[in-house]
Amino acid sequence: MIAGVDVGYGRVKAYVKTDDGVIKCGYPRVLAEPRNMYWKELNRLHIYSIEGERYIVGDPALSFSGNIIRHESQDYVLENPYWICLGKALIDAGCFHHEGNPIRLNSLVLGIAPGHYQDDTIKKMKTRIRRGVEMYVDNREYRFSAESVQVLPQAAGAFFDWMLSDEGSIRDLKYTKYLFGVLDIGYRTTDYISFDGDRFVTDDSPSEDTGVRSVLSRLLEYVTKRYDCKDKNVEYLEPLLSGKPYLYRGDKIDLSSEVKKIVNDHFKRRIEPGLKKRWESVLDRMHKIIVCGGGAYLINSVNGFMKGHEKQIFIPDAPEYSNARGFYRFAAMNEKNN
Ligand SMILES: Nc1ncnc2c1ncn2[C@@H]1O[C@H](COP(=O)(O)OP(=O)(O)OP(=O)(O)O)[C@@H](O)[C@H]1O
Ligand SMILES: [Mg+2]
Repeated sequence: MIAGVDVGYGRVKAYVKTDDGVIKCGYPRVLAEPRNMYWKELNRLHIYSIEGERYIVGDPALSFSGNIIRHESQDYVLENPYWICLGKALIDAGCFHHEGNPIRLNSLVLGIAPGHYQDDTIKKMKTRIRRGVEMYVDNREYRFSAESVQVLPQAAGAFFDWMLSDEGSIRDLKYTKYLFGVLDIGYRTTDYISFDGDRFVTDDSPSEDTGVRSVLSRLLEYVTKRYDCKDKNVEYLEPLLSGKPYLYRGDKIDLSSEVKKIVNDHFKRRIEPGLKKRWESVLDRMHKIIVCGGGAYLINSVNGFMKGHEKQIFIPDAPEYSNARGFYRFAAMNEKNN
């Protein structure tokens, strides 16, 4: 069994090979404490636990806005909630159904924000998963571990998504001669990395701590001022990014022009300059600028983004899944070569 899992700050995304083929799954990375849970028969929640810590995970956690716990530190990859998120992805993908319990993956590829790279952190991540993780959903125990683990910079997944097939073969050898940039617009971080052929070209500052959440925060400021809204969570504003109305006191309010204004401003003032600054001298030579992460959906509503470079910009299908798909393909390549 092989898997590519991208546990982002906003969403968990995974591609896993099971007996049913390659399964894609994902859910919001939101964890809430199961405090004051009364009338259990009315809400059928699953409680995930690990080493005594208990959480409601994913979509249902969004309903408990007062209990949501943020795990925002750079080394959240070492904390228990990270491993619960990984385990939930494997459970959702049906791994335990096919392989029994415990499961041992042959190859697992994970990601980390390139700007949060630390040797020590990666070593600890690998040690934990090789040794094995034990968690519970309600009272059922789930144990998983992996034989081979690799931790790649998050945006690199989108590059391998472009480069490799699902079987892990290079799609076209000519791509190994070109220069590629990857712009990953995530929930909390925006990453800029590049590959020269199949060589990862490192940069001093590959990540910026800004992402779709900055857009949502500005939208929250707007609704707080304009409508005196009291909810301080930004999650419930996410549907507005894909054109859904703002629900307010029984009305459905169209805020699409405000969203567009904020998105335009964010891309023009934060993202485009970040890209030009980093790749100033090589931008014209780039074969493709792959734009991935959920933020890639927003590009369509930006007026004249990267004017003159339109031909280079490539947005993969389901861009928020591109890293996980690329990690999976990278794992498949390793399996093939071993
Ligand atoms: N269809 C869509 N339209 C508009 N915005 C979307 C869409 N899908 C996702 N998004 C937004 O993009 C955000 C970022 O998604 P993504 O999965 O790339 O973040 P992440 O990888 O979890 O974050 P990070 O890379 O910072 O760790 C989502 O939280 C959501 O707000
Ligand atoms: Mg991401």
